Amino acid sequence: MSPIVLIRCVIFVTCFLVTMLSAAPTLLFQGFNWESCNKQGGLYNSLVNSIDDLAAAGVTHVWLPPPSQSAAPQGYMPGRLYDLNASSYGNEEELKSLIKSFKNKGIKAIADIVINHRTAEKQDERGVWCIFEGGTPDERLDWGPSLICKDDIEYSNGMGNADTGEPFPPAPDIDHLNPRVQNELSDWMNWLKIDIGFDGWRFDYARGYSSSITKVYMTNTSPDFAVGEYWNSVAIGPDGKPEYNQDKHRNEIMNWVQESGGGSLTAFDFTTKFILQAAVEGELWRLIDPNGKPPGLIGILPGSAVTFIDNHDTGSTQKISPFPSDKVMQGYAYILTHPGIPSLFYDHFFDWGLKDELTKLSAVRARNEITATSQVKILAYEAELYVAVIDEKVIVKIGPKMDLGNLIPENFKLATSGDQYAVWEKLP
Ligand SMILES: *[C@@H]1O[C@H](CO)[C@@H](O)[C@H](O)[C@H]1NC(C)=O
Repeated sequence: MSPIVLIRCVIFVTCFLVTMLSAAPTLLFQGFNWESCNKQGGLYNSLVNSIDDLAAAGVTHVWLPPPSQSAAPQGYMPGRLYDLNASSYGNEEELKSLIKSFKNKGIKAIADIVINHRTAEKQDERGVWCIFEGGTPDERLDWGPSLICKDDIEYSNGMGNADTGEPFPPAPDIDHLNPRVQNELSDWMNWLKIDIGFDGWRFDYARGYSSSITKVYMTNTSPDFAVGEYWNSVAIGPDGKPEYNQDKHRNEIMNWVQESGGGSLTAFDFTTKFILQAAVEGELWRLIDPNGKPPGLIGILPGSAVTFIDNHDTGSTQKISPFPSDKVMQGYAYILTHPGIPSLFYDHFFDWGLKDELTKLSAVRARNEITATSQVKILAYEAELYVAVIDEKVIVKIGPKMDLGNLIPENFKLATSGDQYAVWEKLP
């Protein structure tokens, strides 16, 4: 071996090891909003142009919208599951090429899996919409009333088992206890993985079927990463605000993850979102639980908690439960320094002009190797001030109060700051 080759070899192996040891912390990006179905030229073709910005922000996984033909343009009323050419976001070739371009930059794609319910292609002799077509020349996913839950009130001709979860009135609820349903949906998900290039799943409306069903699809498809939308309601006090103690709320989500098998499965941390968006309104004392830990899912199961500020339902143009718009960066300063797997939302990154601030916070997280299971010590939790130190390396402050007393030690220097938030990192 010549010296040059040897040196190249050493450099290569060293770079490889350094890359492996300092693997970027998982950072999810929601790559669409409620209006993305109207994007000129299609969402898929538009996202291709932003991959460099997303990679620079440290994004490791991008959540794409439901890809199949759907009765509603956003994709949440899917019918012909194998037909990816009738989507308002673009066609199958454009999707595959987008996923490939993301992969070239080290970003994995997550498919939005809408399987609780499904829209039919045809009516039966009684005029009920219950004849499904898969979108393939063979009979895969060509289903009828025997695969609809028998207690589906709106689609009364269902002959399957009783629904194992919450009903979804606008479309037939699918009988996931039926082995044909389990096998054919698992095959479809594995097709999305192998043929289309997805690496993981976002389970839509995970409360629509039991955790044991989620476990079946997790086992049959072994995704690299998966996150469930287990969207439960927080307890509201007599003053119309969330109650301080939301243990029941976070325990429900934790139980769902654990009963669904855990592993690479995580859940959106709705508890943290709902508490945080109340806390930033002059009630930052909410951000500690009686054990001195964060009060959301990240306080009890941080490795399986995906934190977020808003999504296509809670924010965007639907605004079902939006984060206070002038305090969004305080929210991000919290989730991007705290344990859990943080996520960034399309609107904030692209439309609200927050790309640079978010990129700086994400860089602090990566540089200090904050992970989903990092340790938090809460230093202040007053109405107008919250301060915490993470892994003894990063200090974050949110809230309007300016006087921090002597909370910031001298060996910490300011890393980044913005409206009512600041982050310091320990000097080496
Ligand atoms: C969608 O288009 C691709 C070619 O771009 C084709 O291979 C595939 O069969 C089409 N799917 C359907 C359901 O028509």
